[in-house]
Amino acid sequence: MAKIVFESVTKTFPTKDKKEKAEFTALDGIDLEIEAGEFLVVVGPSGCGKSTLLDLLGGLTRPTSGQILLDGRPVTGPGLDRGIVFQQYALLPWRTALGNVEFGLEATGVPRRQRAAKAREFLDLVGLAGFEDRHPHELSGGMRQRVAIARSLAYDPDVLLMDEPFAALDAQTRESLQDELRRIWQRTGKTVVFITHGIEEAVYLGQRVAVITSRPGRVKEVVPVSFGDRAIGASGEDLRSSPEFARYRHEIWTLLHDEVARAQQLEKEEASV
Ligand SMILES: Nc1ncnc2c1ncn2[C@@H]1O[C@H](COP(=O)(O)OP(=O)(O)OP(=O)(O)O)[C@@H](O)[C@H]1O
Ligand SMILES: [Mg+2]
Repeated sequence: MAKIVFESVTKTFPTKDKKEKAEFTALDGIDLEIEAGEFLVVVGPSGCGKSTLLDLLGGLTRPTSGQILLDGRPVTGPGLDRGIVFQQYALLPWRTALGNVEFGLEATGVPRRQRAAKAREFLDLVGLAGFEDRHPHELSGGMRQRVAIARSLAYDPDVLLMDEPFAALDAQTRESLQDELRRIWQRTGKTVVFITHGIEEAVYLGQRVAVITSRPGRVKEVVPVSFGDRAIGASGEDLRSSPEFARYRHEIWTLLHDEVARAQQLEKEEASV
């Protein structure tokens, strides 16, 4: 059975509308299966429910109807089997970079003496060696996000949930972290659910790319991405400039473009009511 199964998952939020019991459907009947060890990327227009989908999988909120199964068991709350990198940096402001990474390790029972070494190793991995003792307010936005990534990797969860983790980074840092994440994924066999606005990022990282529609959020299409033996040997640059890459990019761009246009149309219609 698949590692993660979404079964007709719907999520509605109450609205502040004057009408009684008005509600807003963020996600509507999501059916999706994610295999163990798979790298699934989710793309969709702003506001289509991507973060909501990840919150549900992380157990931070509950579906209004339907259910999510993880290893065959319904998700009922957060757990150490899932590491989450949020869209907004979620660091503890009173702790240093090192302390923030150690925080994830405390819950998993890594002995105190090993924690610092392990936290250093992961800060190093995301390019933050030398910044261990800085507090979040002394770090740039991109650096904070890298601390958050190091924290989620350090305690070695089975499943990594990442909500636009590289969006705030400069292009060079983004590409090197994409490569790093791909290596970690290949090495560890983690199941990754990765949200992004970047079509290139989606094609580069994803084994499959799920395109979500806007309002309500539904799965429009899941595009399998395959470059044959790409993962073995091909450098990022080779891959990105290949004709297959361009073909996938265009395919997803087209799916997304239609959705963004539809979302804008909906907004216009609402504004004129
Ligand atoms: N707690 C909440 N209460 C009410 N509405 C919410 C809540 N959380 C999300 N929504 C609404 O649900 C919809 C989906 O939000 P979500 O944050 O999942 O979108 P998103 O696809 O992640 O957008 P973005 O790409 O901008 O991050 C939005 O219209 C949002 O306003
Ligand atoms: Mg979001």
